[in-house]
Amino acid sequence: MPKLASYNGKVDSIENIKVSPMSRAFLFSDSVYEVISFYKKKFIDFETHLDRLKHSLNETKISCSIEDCKTEIVKLLNESKCEDGYIYYQVSRGVDSIRSHFFKESDCERFGFIEEFSFFNQSPLKVMLVDDIRWQRCDIKSTSLLGNVLQMNDAKSAGCNEILMHKNGELTEGGASNIFFVKNKTIFTPELSSNILPGITRHQVIKIINDKKLNFEEGSYGIDDLKEASSIWFTSTTKGIVGVEEIVNLETKINPECELLEICKNAFVKRYFS
Ligand code: PDD
Repeated sequence: MPKLASYNGKVDSIENIKVSPMSRAFLFSDSVYEVISFYKKKFIDFETHLDRLKHSLNETKISCSIEDCKTEIVKLLNESKCEDGYIYYQVSRGVDSIRSHFFKESDCERFGFIEEFSFFNQSPLKVMLVDDIRWQRCDIKSTSLLGNVLQMNDAKSAGCNEILMHKNGELTEGGASNIFFVKNKTIFTPELSSNILPGITRHQVIKIINDKKLNFEEGSYGIDDLKEASSIWFTSTTKGIVGVEEIVNLETKINPECELLEICKNAFVKRYFS
């Protein structure tokens, strides 16, 4: 069945959508995006995703009404038969008449599609530790993802399905997820900065950790911390919370059976999927 998509507010089969090659999304990756999941036809953390989209739009100076985005995303879900899945939604600065680095005030261009997806039975991840070669504003959810794409595909050649990035030895995040690790019965995660995306799942997991009164710290951590970790987890909208079984290029003491991971996973599933 063809995917259902939305282009500037018009819902259609994805095959019928035509995009100009003069789109700044195509020429410059001049666009920002969100991935928003839904379960039993209900969005998960919808308003928080819209707030982050607003942050990305403001930081990139793309003018677009967040209310229009909201209406289009809701319409796409309502017109689809999907019960569980996610919506990918991006906003670009629009279509230009000439290719110019200098942008002018233009109508934004909005594109989204809906994907059926099951959130359960995620397998533990095999991860490669890599240099974080991305730009310096990773707090913006930009579609310019070449740094992630190149490193993730190198890791795939080594049998991995995620990467763990570091900047000069300081841990940042996964290729498409945030990272948590456990050391001496305390859960750690890198603090928010312009080097990482403020993950919505990360935020929810921190809430769970605090509700359950588990030992927790946010800060700056390095590769040596990982070597001593008993468990490593990744979080994202599509992964939920998932454990790491191996870092292929680092000797660790990680054990896939982790009591703290199970506590957080169970609370997460109860909150969103029951
Ligand atoms: N990625 N860090 C990066 C670099 C990401 O791309 C993502 C999400 C996250 C987790 O954010 P959240 O919990 O809000 O999904 C962290 C999405 C799912 C993607 O690009 O497909």
